[in-house]
Amino acid sequence: MNSEELLKACHIENGSLVDSSFQAFLNAHYANSRIVIMVDENTHDCCLEYLITSFVQLSEAEVMLLPVGEENKVMEVCFQVWEALTEYGIGRDDLIVNLGGGVVTDMGGFIAAVYKRGLDFIHIPTTLLGMVDASIGGKTGIDLGIYKNQLGVFKEPVKIYTDAGFLGSLPDHQILNGFAEMLKHALITSADLWLELKSISRIDDMKDMSRIKTSQAIKCNAVLNDPLDKGFRKTLNFGHTVGHAIEGFYLDSLVLSHGHCVALGIIVESYMSFAKGLLSKEELEDISGTIRTWFEIPAFDELAFDALVELMKNDKKNSANKILGCALEGIGNCSWDAEYTPTEIKEGLKYLLKLN
Ligand SMILES: NC(=O)c1ccc[n+]([C@@H]2O[C@H](COP(=O)([O-])OP(=O)(O)OC[C@H]3O[C@@H](n4cnc5c(N)ncnc54)[C@H](O)[C@@H]3O)[C@@H](O)[C@H]2O)c1
Repeated sequence: MNSEELLKACHIENGSLVDSSFQAFLNAHYANSRIVIMVDENTHDCCLEYLITSFVQLSEAEVMLLPVGEENKVMEVCFQVWEALTEYGIGRDDLIVNLGGGVVTDMGGFIAAVYKRGLDFIHIPTTLLGMVDASIGGKTGIDLGIYKNQLGVFKEPVKIYTDAGFLGSLPDHQILNGFAEMLKHALITSADLWLELKSISRIDDMKDMSRIKTSQAIKCNAVLNDPLDKGFRKTLNFGHTVGHAIEGFYLDSLVLSHGHCVALGIIVESYMSFAKGLLSKEELEDISGTIRTWFEIPAFDELAFDALVELMKNDKKNSANKILGCALEGIGNCSWDAEYTPTEIKEGLKYLLKLN
């Protein structure tokens, strides 16, 4: 399938929302439905007005305000929303519109998927990370304590509308958050795309719609080939075994975005690929140099290494008590279910700290 076909198969439509099929889609399928819009405090302030003033039907929607941030992607918030949906009398034929970043789409998707055994939902991602990654592929979920995405179900949104106009109010560090996933998409599939992305020198160039589309198509290809994450789709986890552990470790203290943690995870996991003889020294330095241009290396302590390994032992991708992740077999080529031993992980973390 070409890019356009991949996006279509993942129900993605790109471009200005007012020029899209959004209104016609609502008319065709939800003319008599009640609509609930999930927002967080920031998308409430920055994105909601455009939506409800552009589409008449949405001016009457119930707006559900979720607290901002990963620390609120939890069951307690879901309970409150399910109670409110019940109070409002929301039923099986109604629709949820998730307007926000990955936290809103992950949690809003989960809330919709579980409520009354499943309500239709549309994602309108408003972060770069949401556009190129979190909104695509039907993984919904929430965190359980320090364990990321420990609870969740697979359920596809009925549509995903990507309007890069929403990125206008997104702070630069959040653009970088999404750029980390775009770099990952390049590293696992395409040396040419890697060359293109690493040559970017302005944050505005990361918001380019054709680059967003290319990245979406890479994610779609993985998802469509392996919807339930049994094989090829696992390559999307490159950087995430280590990245999720760093994110969980710092959840309460240092505020590092998901993408920032993934960027650090990419360096550590690339080092492990190098240590296994799969990646050349030049490639490793190319990857760590590019990531360091955009992402700070936090000065964490070697004492944290054991705690990080412990977190990785709980990763959902593990099997037979082994920590499993991805291996980069040259830039643009990734394999999955590679074993990471605690010693290899600690060597990779040491390499990361030395870059500081
Ligand atoms: N389901 C998946 O396949 C998948 C894939 C990758 C990541 N994720 C999840 O996505 C989450 C991270 O997503 P994220 O980085 O988008 O975080 P986020 O949803 O927390 O958004 C980041 C910040 O940007 C704000 N924001 C959003 N849109 C804005 C806008 N247009 N203008 C101004 N501010 C805006 C948010 O309020 C928040 O403060 C994590 O929970 C991660 O686990 C899921």
